[in-house]
Amino acid sequence: PSPLSDTDGYVLVTGGLGFIGSHTVVELMKEGHNVVIVDDLSNSASDVFDRILKTAHLHFARTGKRCPKVHFRNMNYRDVPAMRNLLDSVSLPGLQNERRSRFIGVIHFAAYKAVEESIRQPMRYYHNNVVGLLDFLALLDEYSVRTFIFSSSATVYGSLADGSKLLREEHCVHENGLYVDVDGNTKLSEPGYAGITSPYGRTKYFGEAILSDIARSDPRWRILALRYFNPVGCDVEGFLGEDPKGDPSNLLPVVVKVMTGQLSELSVYGDDWNTPDGTAVRDFIHVTDLAKGHTAALNAAQTRQIPAGFRTFNLGTGCGNSVTEVVKAMEGVSKVIIPSKIVSRRDGDVQSSVAAADRAKNELGWTTEKNLHDACRDTYNYLRLRTII
Ligand code: WQD
Repeated sequence: PSPLSDTDGYVLVTGGLGFIGSHTVVELMKEGHNVVIVDDLSNSASDVFDRILKTAHLHFARTGKRCPKVHFRNMNYRDVPAMRNLLDSVSLPGLQNERRSRFIGVIHFAAYKAVEESIRQPMRYYHNNVVGLLDFLALLDEYSVRTFIFSSSATVYGSLADGSKLLREEHCVHENGLYVDVDGNTKLSEPGYAGITSPYGRTKYFGEAILSDIARSDPRWRILALRYFNPVGCDVEGFLGEDPKGDPSNLLPVVVKVMTGQLSELSVYGDDWNTPDGTAVRDFIHVTDLAKGHTAALNAAQTRQIPAGFRTFNLGTGCGNSVTEVVKAMEGVSKVIIPSKIVSRRDGDVQSSVAAADRAKNELGWTTEKNLHDACRDTYNYLRLRTII
């Protein structure tokens, strides 16, 4: 692997060849950051690194500016000796037993994220997503790398999401088990189990709780947990897309399989919800907007715009769209009919999950710029460029 320079600063991105990770690496580079990607390719492929380079080089050819450096290390973030070697390579002796690292911050995407799989394989999920996180944080602390952006999820709102109101960060059960429900009533609940319906969701909740406790114990940590709503779409250049390994369960990848003939029709999980058209409502956020939410979070942490400690941020549009509206939007941009049939609801689904997005706007200076139509258009563009359709 290409040696790291002995002077530059880098952002360390674990899981950086994944769907959201790769788009975030591109946006980090556009903002001038050098990046080191650690990815074990368990849910990605090494050619994504080439596609990141293609997308970045296209951008910098247009701007004429120097393209930052990006390195890929094919390794598991839980491989402590390998991670120690990597951290050593950018570590400098500091004052007292502190060290100075040229890793200016970490964006941690590496985690398993398939809800149904997590129900079948909880131990594997808790080892990778929670035990791995703990060991990783201990290593980062040893090397004084304490700016940490955590990939979290709206799934931590659990059944609180069933109201039709916007989900606010304080709605999530934390610390003392207090939470504000969607009608604004403060309620007591056993911490963390406000209806989170999968081991995957609990690994995100436990991850947030661990990070919150670490930040409270040591003010040198600056930790932002970003709660993603429903990421869709892909980079407008069409080199990066969502290529999940195995059978997808998320709506857009399933719709894509119907469009490309790999599935005969879309099963719509219920049209008996209390929503305008009866199908469930979600906050579909363009993955490029989501990626920019990470660069905004890193910059806010670096410039100390965010006080030391732990803080959660919703990354969503604040607007809800139903399953039917998604299908119609994709049909509109592609002129491809997407056959679908109504089936019974899926276990664990909630009626509506839409972000209150004001905290990220006010504190990170970040808002979404793209909409569902853009996401469908960019997805279709990706499919055509890769002649999948
Ligand atoms: C969206 C809507 C389905 C597929 C999940 C995870 C969450 C996060 C994002 C990681 C729902 C409906 C879907 C299909 C359908 N992942 N649907 N037919 O469930 O909101 O969130 O992905 O952090 O943790 O829970 O996303 O895309 O699976 O479903 O009708 O074939 O589309 O019922 O209403 P979801 P989704």
